[in-house]
Amino acid sequence: MTSEPYQTPDDPTAVSRKKDHIELAFRSRVESGQLDPRFYYEPLLAAHPTAGSLKAFSFLGKTLRSPIWVSSMTGGTALAGKINHYLARACSEFGMGMGLGSCRQLLYSDEYLPDFDVRSTMGSDLPLFANLGVAQIETLFEQKETERIPTLLHKLRADGLIVHVNPLQEAMQPEGDVFRRSPLEVVQELLQTFDFKMIVKEVGQGFGPESLRALLQLPLAAIEFAAAGGTNFAKLELLRSDAAKLAIFEKIAAVGHNATEMLDWTNALKTELGERCLTPNLILSGGVMDFLDGYYLTQKSVMPAVYGQASGFLKHAQGDYEELRAFVQSQVRGLELAGAFLKVK
Ligand SMILES: Cc1cc2nc3c(=O)[nH]c(=O)nc-3n(C[C@H](O)[C@H](O)[C@H](O)COP(=O)(O)O)c2cc1C
Repeated sequence: MTSEPYQTPDDPTAVSRKKDHIELAFRSRVESGQLDPRFYYEPLLAAHPTAGSLKAFSFLGKTLRSPIWVSSMTGGTALAGKINHYLARACSEFGMGMGLGSCRQLLYSDEYLPDFDVRSTMGSDLPLFANLGVAQIETLFEQKETERIPTLLHKLRADGLIVHVNPLQEAMQPEGDVFRRSPLEVVQELLQTFDFKMIVKEVGQGFGPESLRALLQLPLAAIEFAAAGGTNFAKLELLRSDAAKLAIFEKIAAVGHNATEMLDWTNALKTELGERCLTPNLILSGGVMDFLDGYYLTQKSVMPAVYGQASGFLKHAQGDYEELRAFVQSQVRGLELAGAFLKVK
């Protein structure tokens, strides 16, 4: 009996694989202009990483097993409740942290609490943060009702509060809030009033260097970039508004900073500010497309950092849990491979 030349008992797919290689060789060309310029590829120095080999590390007082953050997304509908619980389950399985979407509704009523109440799904070992807009906090100060905030955190068993700062979104939103004080003043007052952990984020346009300089000098637990390049809420609100407003303001919705630009500023500011830099951690998010962007940013950060995604998770959290699980597992595998073979230039 004659056998195929390449087929051996320990490699039964050899024949079909060689055939695939010949057929796909021409389709698989990557032109040199398409190469990712951010990394050195070092194939010589490591074995294949075993699955599950990412190192656990402490972040925001808890222990993460993956350097990934689920960025805040609004709750308050039946679908959002399901999504929040799926995301929390993925956090528990893969050791990620999570920011809830705006919890404004929960300040005054528990009607939607089950949609946000994910602590038991997530477990107590991972960071979970509640979320409020800076406009809401300004109003609570005016009405002398800020005690509602620790009550909210207690209800959610949250580790702290994320404050989102979104002046352009509010200005473009037909029913948007008006800031009567600067967000910086409101955040400073919040820090003076309470000692729970606080994170400040934008919602998809990031922060310029002067805002970053001011934030880094506050005793925050972290800054979340929420940079430009992904979901843009100023534009989103314009699309909800009328055509005339869209035509006038579309260009201002296109301002902002991407995460790489913001990280360059933050790295430089960390050195420049020295001991005046009081914020110790970063969540690098906004326009992060996948693990490779996340790996690049976290490796490049001088400060301890994880990377965050909102819409990236949302895309995979609307079907069944297995779809979300497969997505996160693939991202973790990508991080393992990147860690073994890629060095940031
Ligand atoms: C559906 C959706 C709802 C969001 N709701 C909130 C929110 O309630 N609070 C908040 O701080 N950010 C919210 N964001 C902004 C995200 O946290 C994130 O900063 C922004 O989408 C940029 O990240 P991305 O490019 O990965 O989507 C929301 C984003 C999405 C896509």
